[in-house]
Amino acid sequence: MKVKGTDFRSIWLDDNSWSVNIIDQTFLPHEFVVRTLNNGQEAAEAISVMRVRGAPLIGATAAYGLALALREDSSDHGLRKTSEMLLATRPTAVNLRWALQYMNQSLLKLPVAQRTEQAYVLAAEICEEDVACNHAIGQHGLGLIRDLWQKRKAHTKNLHILTHCNAGWLATVDWGTALSPIYQAHNDGIPVHVWVDETRPRNQGAALTAWELASHGIAHDVIVDNAGGHLMQHGQVDMCITGTDRTARNGDVCNKIGTYLKALAAYDNGVPFYVALPGPTIDWLMVDGVAGIPIEERDSSEVTSVGGKNASGRVESVQITPDGVSARNFSFDVTPSRLVTGLITERGVCPASESGLTGLYPEHRSLAT
Ligand code: MRU
Repeated sequence: MKVKGTDFRSIWLDDNSWSVNIIDQTFLPHEFVVRTLNNGQEAAEAISVMRVRGAPLIGATAAYGLALALREDSSDHGLRKTSEMLLATRPTAVNLRWALQYMNQSLLKLPVAQRTEQAYVLAAEICEEDVACNHAIGQHGLGLIRDLWQKRKAHTKNLHILTHCNAGWLATVDWGTALSPIYQAHNDGIPVHVWVDETRPRNQGAALTAWELASHGIAHDVIVDNAGGHLMQHGQVDMCITGTDRTARNGDVCNKIGTYLKALAAYDNGVPFYVALPGPTIDWLMVDGVAGIPIEERDSSEVTSVGGKNASGRVESVQITPDGVSARNFSFDVTPSRLVTGLITERGVCPASESGLTGLYPEHRSLAT
């Protein structure tokens, strides 16, 4: 996608053909900083402190992190050690496990001397596949938006879509998941307006989604996390689209904390609630998402402090709670499949259920695959 007229992806191979560039998302929206990763440890650090984040981009960064680490040690031991280090960075997004398994399966079969070159090839393939999936998700989602716009356009100037967290191009290699249909609807001439949940504690909506939408000239308003129910009750939300960090075999969807409450409000108000995801976000071994998906708990300082730009333009962090307060920071929640209108995947739209998912991905009908 474009930043000030220049095409960018969220991760790319440097001109030197071995180091890896990322957009350091901890600086957005105030500064656009490109950071170069030179080894596996730097890739792991970038994932755990959320310089890169979003399930698909975490997977892509881990894949390149493995390639970077293999330059130093491509033995079986080196491959396993780096994979374990990368896997430990964030527990919820399943794309991380998927990418590392995909790389390991193929690399362990190769002679040690061929592994590094092949790791770069596989990491590039993962990135290209992500871009293609997200474009296709956008096309399928566009169909839903177009149908809804046909029904609503006599009564409203804009089609209002609510989203939570950031599931835009910054969360993927390009296009995004939840935002891809919105970009494609905008490009198609549909007057979309986005309600952007701020998404405490790290404010990925206020900082990243708002920045992305502004860069592409899409109408939007940032709202506090608790406003969605009120807007839905008053007919001001036509549909919700979110991303997901892990979708279980039964169609339960895990996403940024607060998604579940939006789904409940949408259900109560008859607002369609869609979740957009590429195939690698489905955990085929997870039979019950609510019971089984591990929920990351991050440092409580993310709850007790807020970062932002002060009146003199300097970025700083301020404490908002009493000194010494106890706080807990649950990063994700799981929305049960019964609250999800449909899953938008690269293969089409399906009901949020095991039969819906295996209808689109018949190769996973058996639990063993
Ligand atoms: O903690 P984050 O910022 O990595 O969480 C990201 C989300 O919850 C996104 O909505 C999700 O990864 C889907 S992104 C395509």
